[in-house]
Amino acid sequence: MAFKGWKTTIEAGDHVIAYLTRESMSAILIKRDEVYNCRFGQFPHNDMIGKKFGQKMISHTGKGFMYLLHPTPELWTMVLPHRTQILYLPDISFISSFLDLKPGTRMIESGTGSGSFSHSIARTIAPTGKLFTFEYHKERADRAKQEFEEHGLGDLIQIEHRDVCKNGFGLEDEVHAVFLDLPAPWEAIGSAKKAFKTRRSGKICCFSPCIEQVTKTVSALNEHGFVDITMYECLSRPHDVKGYRILTVDDAIRQAKEKEAERERVRQENFLKRKRERDGDTTGEADTSSGTPTPKMDTVEEQAEMVPVSKTTTETHGHTSFLTFATFLPVQAKDESEANSV
Ligand SMILES: C[S@@+](CC[C@H](N)C(=O)[O-])C[C@H]1O[C@@H](n2cnc3c(N)ncnc32)[C@H](O)[C@@H]1O
Repeated sequence: MAFKGWKTTIEAGDHVIAYLTRESMSAILIKRDEVYNCRFGQFPHNDMIGKKFGQKMISHTGKGFMYLLHPTPELWTMVLPHRTQILYLPDISFISSFLDLKPGTRMIESGTGSGSFSHSIARTIAPTGKLFTFEYHKERADRAKQEFEEHGLGDLIQIEHRDVCKNGFGLEDEVHAVFLDLPAPWEAIGSAKKAFKTRRSGKICCFSPCIEQVTKTVSALNEHGFVDITMYECLSRPHDVKGYRILTVDDAIRQAKEKEAERERVRQENFLKRKRERDGDTTGEADTSSGTPTPKMDTVEEQAEMVPVSKTTTETHGHTSFLTFATFLPVQAKDESEANSV
């Protein structure tokens, strides 16, 4: 089942993203006779087979439902098993465009981690590109390799279990771009430089949470002759659009007056009640209501016009790291530099 491709009908062996709510999604590998259980009910895999991606599926009890979504790198990032910190969509999209990734790009990534970024890269560089990804944690490397193969990305991604800071990438004149999400990216920059295609310019990005790491990375990039060194921080601020009842100024004044009248009515009532208690008056409740009934507190709001309003959430999503970009300049061929110096 290819994350990089597209199909319409669900078959056994496919991955489906079960969309329960905006906050609740999970990946399912479709296997005959298995059942997906969740708080919305039971969903037999056999009933998913033959359905169209995107279709709504009702649970066995008929009480719950979910949507059967086609897997994409974007959805995978939201549901993948976290073995490490991962990159999220705001950073992924920013990095992909600043590294100029496109079909046919050959690039290096390290570490592979949970494979969140690898999935996006693979889809972007398909069908003719190549991702060389390196991970020094053996179990993570093995798990990622298995996932890439299960997701139909095995031909695009070559994963190697390797410490790139100690042993480099082992590649020369090979790639257009490099992405480093490592604790000490500066230790891998010399080897990354060798991996760039020598006769064209290339782009590197180092992803680091601390400014001290950025400082060391920038020094290493300078030492190795990279140019155009620029650092960004990419933050996303989602907007929640909802209908709100918006009061005009006149309505707001009317509402304030009504609220004050209501408060005054309650004050009067309490005053009379206390007075009666003091006087030992047991003749019953005095009628404190005026001739016209006081409108309910929210009457004005209920009558106000419903207007769509965009509100930002207080939380800022995304893994806040610094993104240091730089450009590798092509090595001038010997004969060219000689010709230029004449
Ligand atoms: C934060 S994770 C990468 C997450 C990944 N970008 C993603 O989106 O899923 C960093 C990974 O780098 C690996 N790593 C750290 N130092 C390394 C080294 N010297 N060589 C190779 N991998 C390394 C760690 O094992 C870890 O899995």
